Amino acid sequence: MRLKSLVLRDFRNYRSLDVDFSENVNILWGKNAQGKTNILEAIYFLATARSFRTLDRRNLIFWDKEGFLLSGTVVNETEKNVKITFFKNKKSAQINKRQLKKLSDLIGVLRVVIFTPEDIFLMKGSPLQRRRFIDIYLSQVDKNYIAALQTFKKILIRRNSEIKRRTGEKTPFLWDEQLSQHCAYIIKRRQEVIEELSKAAYSYHREITKNKERLKIEYQPSIKVNEPEKENIFKYLAERRKKDIEEGYTARGPHRDDISFIVDGRDAKLFGSEGQQRSIALSLKNAEFNLMCKATGDVPLILADDVLPVLDMERRKAFFPSIEGRTQIFVSSTDKRDVVNIKGDKKLFRVFSGNINEERL
Ligand SMILES: Nc1ncnc2c1ncn2[C@@H]1O[C@H](COP(=O)(O)OP(=O)(O)OP(=O)(O)O)[C@@H](O)[C@H]1O
Ligand SMILES: [Mg+2]
Repeated sequence: MRLKSLVLRDFRNYRSLDVDFSENVNILWGKNAQGKTNILEAIYFLATARSFRTLDRRNLIFWDKEGFLLSGTVVNETEKNVKITFFKNKKSAQINKRQLKKLSDLIGVLRVVIFTPEDIFLMKGSPLQRRRFIDIYLSQVDKNYIAALQTFKKILIRRNSEIKRRTGEKTPFLWDEQLSQHCAYIIKRRQEVIEELSKAAYSYHREITKNKERLKIEYQPSIKVNEPEKENIFKYLAERRKKDIEEGYTARGPHRDDISFIVDGRDAKLFGSEGQQRSIALSLKNAEFNLMCKATGDVPLILADDVLPVLDMERRKAFFPSIEGRTQIFVSSTDKRDVVNIKGDKKLFRVFSGNINEERL
């Protein structure tokens, strides 16, 4: 798949942008704070219906305007136009001018894997960031997962408000049956995917550490059951009911899960050096790319946001060769020299103050 063109209106620092991309390598270069990452963010949003930098969509609107428009033409077997608008707090999405019920219905038309210096927060950050990673991955490959996750979140809010009103713990909460069903699916999928990610990341990590480190990625579900089946989870929730009422909220569930990164038997979140953590993040992202290809039969686009400066010399040299020619890539950099030699059919864009100009190579 590839992104043929992109249109932005009042998105971040772009008042108006219409751009055609190379089907292979697209280089965005320019000084700091000109709008390079904003372009990658727009592409990411078209793919995932989310930003990788903010949870509040209003931050994406050009200062003081009332909304933004994002649209892109995606070529896969057929050509599809994806359009998102966010105007006066109302979101709307279309595929080929057909209105979608929910913004998330557009996920999967375009697929992306992003590499950014912030990937290190998959190690350093909170469990929320790790859950977000796995949720966004699974949302891109599994429509049922998005549906289960959305319903789960709604039910959880209802359950928590019921907990606050409750005094006795004898009877189940109204929604526990449905909740258990969605929990079961979410946990099962997370378990499967993390296991596969672990295998794929293991070999990549062996390679980049010259056979020195053994990486294992482990799922840490907060609900402990032998098999993530609806009945087991229903029982587990029943046993926890009294505690939940005492604590005043649902303390266990997919909203409290985490992921561990174990290097040679130790948790790299706690003991890994900065460089080690960056290497693990790199291995994880590579595993994500490979897995997404396998799971969907499509090759996702790669967004690489200013990645070289945070890598050591060896990883720097290896980074672009490891992705060249595999898919359409979008690379941002402040230093043209770092990126002009990437192999493939290239377009070079100079980004300056919310405008981009194609330059000759
Ligand atoms: N909602 C917004 N409306 C208008 N401008 C915005 C908005 N959000 C961010 N900006 C501007 O966008 C610019 C930052 O863009 P971006 O993050 O894409 O920079 P960059 O080129 O990637 O820079 P760097 O090299 O530092 O990473 C800043 O000047 C910021 O003020
Ligand atoms: Mg940037």
